[in-house]
Amino acid sequence: MTADDQKRAAGEAAAAMVEAGMTVGLGTGSTAAWFVRALAARKLDVRGVPTSQATADLAAGLGIALLELDAAKQIDLTVDGADEIGPGLALIKGGGAALLREKLVWEASARCVVIADAAKRVAMLGAFPLPIEVVPFGHRSTALRISDALSECDLGVAPRLRMKDGAPVRTDNGNLIYDAACGRIPEPAALAQALKSVTGVVDHGLFLDLADLALVGEDAGVVRVEP
Ligand code: A5P
Repeated sequence: MTADDQKRAAGEAAAAMVEAGMTVGLGTGSTAAWFVRALAARKLDVRGVPTSQATADLAAGLGIALLELDAAKQIDLTVDGADEIGPGLALIKGGGAALLREKLVWEASARCVVIADAAKRVAMLGAFPLPIEVVPFGHRSTALRISDALSECDLGVAPRLRMKDGAPVRTDNGNLIYDAACGRIPEPAALAQALKSVTGVVDHGLFLDLADLALVGEDAGVVRVEP
């Protein structure tokens, strides 16, 4: 099975959890896209709350009715991918630069299911560079403060401004992304708190105590993992 087969299997398993009448948070990335396609194929009467413009475009093109977050009375279930899944379903997200809208939708959801291929499961978070969303004004100064926060957590690493095609990547919110290649994050909660205390940081890709269930595509089938 390829990683993409595993992502597809996980996405289809998550789509099978959706019931008619639900409002569903729609994640971002290649795995979430499999979920959106599988959900659309079921032709249920559901509303989707997208976590990025890319997902909004995909879902609308497949005929899923969409709602803005603030127009949704409640979100019954959100399904989204992850860059790493650690112990207790602590996650790194934001490889697709959608971490802020993703976290806003996750936090507004009654239930959150993370879907992934098997390679995303790790014994400790941190091999995947941690995305940090930063306002553009004074972002290089903010990056220095982020370095200080990382040092306080014994992570001596300089965050790098994410670039694409020679220009800084802009999020859907008009912000920038710095990636911190920590290597290992033994204390994610302490790091999360330190990063949130930096003025100019909008949010970071540590999703802690948010996922209720992981559906992981493995060669033998889709495995359910609980926190
Ligand atoms: C988007 O910002 C991310 O949080 C994605 O959910 C994450 O990068 C996983 O992406 P893939 O499903 O493409 O691996």
